[in-house]
Parts: sequence; C-alpha cells; structure tokens
Amino acid sequence: MCGIVGAIADRDVVPVLIDGLKRLEYRGYDSAGIAVVDGDDVRRVRRTGRVAEMEAAAAQEGFNATLGIGHTRWATHGGVTETNAHPHVSHGVALVHNGIIENHEQQREKLRAMGYEFESQTDTEVIAHLIHSFLAQGADLLSAVQQAVRELHGAYALAVVSRKEPGRMIAARMGCPLLVGLGDGENFVASDVSAIVQATRRVIFLEEGDTADVTRASVAVYDGNGEAVQRDVHISDVSLASLELGPYRHFMQKEIHEQPRAVGDTIEAVMDNGAFSASLFGEGAADVLRDVEGVQILACGTSYYAGLTARYWIESIAKIPCSVEIASEYRYRDAVANPKNLVVTISQSGETLDTMEALKYAKSLGHAKTLSICNVPESAIPRASRLVYYTRAGAEIGVASTKAFTTQLVALFTLTCTIAKLRGVLDDATEASYLDALRQLPGSVQHALNLEPQIVAWSERFAPKQHALFLGRGVHYPIALEGALKLKEISYIHAEAYPAGELKHGPLALVDEAMPVVVIAPNDALLEKVKSNIQEVRARGGEMFVFADADSQFGESEQVHVIRTPRHVGVLSPIVHAIPVQLLAYHAALARGTDVDKPRNLAKSVTVE
Ligand code: G6P
Repeated sequence: MCGIVGAIADRDVVPVLIDGLKRLEYRGYDSAGIAVVDGDDVRRVRRTGRVAEMEAAAAQEGFNATLGIGHTRWATHGGVTETNAHPHVSHGVALVHNGIIENHEQQREKLRAMGYEFESQTDTEVIAHLIHSFLAQGADLLSAVQQAVRELHGAYALAVVSRKEPGRMIAARMGCPLLVGLGDGENFVASDVSAIVQATRRVIFLEEGDTADVTRASVAVYDGNGEAVQRDVHISDVSLASLELGPYRHFMQKEIHEQPRAVGDTIEAVMDNGAFSASLFGEGAADVLRDVEGVQILACGTSYYAGLTARYWIESIAKIPCSVEIASEYRYRDAVANPKNLVVTISQSGETLDTMEALKYAKSLGHAKTLSICNVPESAIPRASRLVYYTRAGAEIGVASTKAFTTQLVALFTLTCTIAKLRGVLDDATEASYLDALRQLPGSVQHALNLEPQIVAWSERFAPKQHALFLGRGVHYPIALEGALKLKEISYIHAEAYPAGELKHGPLALVDEAMPVVVIAPNDALLEKVKSNIQEVRARGGEMFVFADADSQFGESEQVHVIRTPRHVGVLSPIVHAIPVQLLAYHAALARGTDVDKPRNLAKSVTVE
C-alpha cells in the first residue's frame, strides 16, 4: 500500500526519492508525489497514476534539492485525485503519511475553527495543519511533530519537513513500519528498506511511538515519552538483485522460477541441523512448543491458504487440533482462548494490519504462546511474537504471492514435525523420511516448473473464459483455493474453488462447456474419490484440466486434459502442486494482457482494515 521515502544529503536527493518510490511501486498505489525544501520554499509535485508520470513532471519543473520526501498513495480517505495525493502542505510544512487517523474528523473541525482551510478529503491533511499549529505557537519542528502525534488516534508513519528548518527531517511512527537509513554524511527515512537499499544497508527500525530527528550528520531517536533512546543499527540483507527483474518479463514470473532456490534456502537451517528441532524457532522455543494442546492459525489471503494446508499436516502428523481463521474475522469475534494453544500468524510482509490486530487480540485473550512465520525480518508481526521462523524467499515484489506461499508451507511443515517430535509422536524413521523429502523438494519444485510449456498451451484456452472452477480434496483442497485466487487476482477471470466432494451440493449446477474445471489430482489416498468427482463433471459436458502425477492412471479425452508432474512426492505434494496453478494463472493473465505485477485495485502489503 502507501510507501514513504525521504532523504537529506549534500547532493540532489530528487533521484533518490524517485528511485525509492519506484522500488515501492510493487506495494500497490494509485498516485505519487514528492516535496522538496528549496531555499526558503517548499515545492511539490503530485500526479495520479504511475511514478514515472510524476517523475516527468518533476523533471520538467526542474526539481533539485538536498532535502525532500516522497510518497506513493493507495487511496483510503478521499478518491484518487491529485489534491488528495501526498505530500500535504500547510504553510511551508510538508508531510507524507502511511496509515489511517481515526479522529481526523474531530481534528478537522478543531483546525477549521482555528482558521485552517482544507483542500483535500484526506485524513493526512489534518496532521500537516496540526503540526503547523504547534509551530505557530513557537515549537520547533521536532517538538511540533511530537505534540501533534499525541493528539492523533490511529496508525501513522510520517516524514515531515519544513521550509523554516531546512537542515532536518522528522520521522514518527505508530502502527505502521518506518525506518531510518544511515548513510555517510546523508540520511534517509523509508517505510520499507527496499526504497533506500541502493543508498545504504544500515538501518534503524523505529519502534511504536518513536520520533526521529534526522539531519545530514546525525540521527536522534526519542520514545513515546519524548526521552532520547538508542535503537539498534541493523544491516539489511535485502539484495539489489531481488529487487530487479533481470531477464524476466514480470516479477511474478521471476518469483515463480525462484522457488527451487527459495525453498532450498528456507530448509537450509533444518538441513544444517540434521533434525527437526525447536531451536529453529528461536530461544526457549522448546518450552513454548512442548506442551501445546492445539494450534490456532491466523492469516489473510495466500498466507491463509498456507495455514489451511498446514491444518492437514498438524492434525495428522503432530496429532493435535488445529483451526485456521481469516485474521479479519478472528479479530472481531468473541473467540474462546485456550492459553495452552499456540497462535501462529503467517504473513509474507509481516505488516498486514488485520493479521497484526488478530495477534494483538489473541494476546489480549491470554495467548502467550505466539509464533510468526514471516518473510520480512524485523517487521511488525514477528516483532510482536514470542517465536519466529523466517522464510527465506527473498523480497517478493509481485502482488500475487508465489514463492512466499511455498516457503511458508516449508516452514509450517517444519513446525508440524517439530511439535510432533516434542510430543513423542514422530519416530526416527519417519523423521528421517521427512527430512529426506524436504532435501529433495527443490528438485521436485524444479520438475514442476519444467511443465511450463504444457501449461502455456492450456492457458491459451483459458484466456477467453469468464469463469473457472478449481477442485481438490484433502490437503490439496487449499491448493485449489490458492489456484483460484491466483487466477482471479491477476487475470480477472472469476474463479472459485471447491472440495471436489462438495461439487454435487451446488457448484455442479454451474458446469457446462463454457466453464473450465481445474482439478488437482495427485496420486494420494483420495485419488479414486477425485476420479469419481471428475466423472460428475464429465457427464455434464464440462471441460477438465487435470494436474496429476505420472503414476496416476488418467485417461485423456477431448474433454479431459491431463498434465502430469514427474512423480508423487508424498506428504509434501501440496507444495509441488502449487507450482502448476501459479503458472496457469500467470500465463492466462499474460494471454489476456493484464498488468500481472500490479493487478487493479490490489496492494502487496495491506496496512489498512
Ligand atoms: C495482500 C496480498 C496477498 C497476500 C495478503 C496477505 O492481499 O496481495 O498476496 O497474500 O495480502 O499478506 P501477508 O503479507 O500478510 O502474507
């Protein structure tokens, strides 16, 4: 969603801001802008649409400055217009904001009564005026920001500059990520390290309630009480290569093809350890995990489907109950907590607001055993969790999640086996066979990727369709759900997934020759059941696209098309079967000419409700 970048330097920061905003584009946005302090003036340029359009406008107006802030906006309060785009300016104070201010209406009325005029419908503009109102009373910029944020309810990450104080930039955060990047004689702020990684890898993650006073030569951080604090300096390991397309056409394509490496990196710690061990999840994990009575998984989107898959593993291998719930539902219902249960949040970004709030709610209900499976080190959700397992997918830029999903599954399988072992229900031989399956997984994923040419041929038949149905059973049902989600997200073909056994209770009514039916049908215990379900479709004239394993006997016909993975990989089969459905969605979208990496209306990191 929204993104922030700011810079203070001895050189022209405009290219830094533009480059940073381009690297934040993947998060999803609908307008962009920058403001710079130029002499004793604040100049800004804003445009709806792409950063490139705003960049062209800035170039035309000859922007050049040593202090500036930039923003990509994903509209919440107020439509997608230039006047609603950030930065917002009040009497020479310019600011960019991520998050939502809940009491913006009261603040707006108060400020109107003080004589301030509003040009936008945003909640952000009130912050600019509020800060100015404190400056007008004699405060300096740092103290004006500190006083202003005390009056705000809601979530914010802010970067603020003022024409009156051209040597400093103030940052503040509550509920939204913000970091300070430390350069050599220059410093930066950003909502995401990828925005500044070209300039520096040394970063300070601001904590809840922090403000930072950033000059060219210094960074001073203050906590929510205004006390000076020392925050650790981290060296980011985000690689520039992971932020660039290389030879690929889209990030989604690149990320799909990175999966053998991503999976390999994510299992590395397990392989080095030679066993499933609690130490993989952080200090003291054995004590947390040993006596868990059940698992409550909370997540959104693709991460939720990873959780649904894990439920099958957790109940069958670790032999404890597991429930999986969409975070935005859990956080608003009267849940019954069992403090002996482990609460697992799954999040690629580590900053999805609903997942974060669901975690806070679980903690408020007495859940102290919390574990986060996350792809972004030091992000908010792992920081709020007792234990963490970092997937090592590398930066995921495509809005539609791919490599994060398969690596989440690896992490969840590892968690399952670790709990099973601590509970004494995983014997040595089974552990060895699971470790071996994991070791072979990158190769199996590569074999699935090699099916791409056959999937391309299918996708051409898919592209003209309006609807599609995905079927799976057991542990592969969530893969059908994920396949349908991928297809609708990026190709805009309406797709639904059903457990194949449920077909006759409703969706069968939709089946005709215009409705392609994708079936995930690996050679597992439910294969014969799936085959019967396929007959039900066939008898109604439906066209079927079946993903099977080489060893399952499937007759092909005009109505039934089959693509086979080289072999059935047993318990890890859902991970391998995720690959063909990702490829199908990608190529169907390509054939339809949609914007694969930035599907309409969607955002990569959803930091609003
Ligand atoms: C957004 C993204 C999805 C993602 C979901 C959850 O909707 O577009 O790809 O699955 O958020 O995100 P998270 O970062 O918590 O996994």
